[in-house]
Amino acid sequence: MSRRKIIAGNWKMNKTPSEAVALVNELKPLVANDEVDVVFCVPAISIIPCMEAAKGTNIKIGAENMYFEESGAFTGEIAPNMLTDVGVKYVVIGHSERREYFAETNITVNKKVKKAFEHSITPIVCCGESLEQREQGVTIDFIRQQIKIAFLDVTADQAKTAVIAYEPIWAIGTGKVATTEQAQEVCAAIRVCIGEIYDEATAQAIRIQYGGSVTAASAAELFAQPDIDGGLVGGASLKPDFGKIVNYK
Ligand code: G3P
Repeated sequence: MSRRKIIAGNWKMNKTPSEAVALVNELKPLVANDEVDVVFCVPAISIIPCMEAAKGTNIKIGAENMYFEESGAFTGEIAPNMLTDVGVKYVVIGHSERREYFAETNITVNKKVKKAFEHSITPIVCCGESLEQREQGVTIDFIRQQIKIAFLDVTADQAKTAVIAYEPIWAIGTGKVATTEQAQEVCAAIRVCIGEIYDEATAQAIRIQYGGSVTAASAAELFAQPDIDGGLVGGASLKPDFGKIVNYK
């Protein structure tokens, strides 16, 4: 089955709203490629101005996080209907930085994934091992556990539309990209895991990205792997290089 590639930028905590608009305007012509899905996940305060700036283009603006409750006394959080109200269709869930600095767990990731689906927002569900886990040889077991919990009580029809981002923690922001073999091996294992949880049709439909120091130089080889359906890009998504990543072919 041929899956449409999805290439997303994760801007993390970078760019003021006015800088964000300038960046969207700069990247607009460079990422104009209708053959892939192009998503910019931007800080919450920049979502609305970036949406305005991206109007009429192929760029979809996504969020970097959201909370799993509908509303109420959760100071500082963003509710799912706040995102859908302004047209957000994608949200990054469970990034390793959220897990490390903001105490997110597999359970909170699962709650957020279910909530995103309830609101018809596509979650980009992040998983990935630490260097220590890789060296101990427990990478696949650890990621299978992350995936199994993230998708608890998610239906096959929902899972088919999800995006999973495999991001080895040791490759994030380090300039140390996983080899294509390492990335393909884990993405294939994730697909097998989804097949076990659901069925082969779901495994073949779900899109799995690689993330971790992706650059214009590494994108083509990574995205050509049979189980890698695009990338979640940090640092390089803030530069004109992102255009080359989107047009990796
Ligand atoms: O979510 C993207 C990410 O964590 C990778 O960041 O800067 O290594 O591309 P970077």
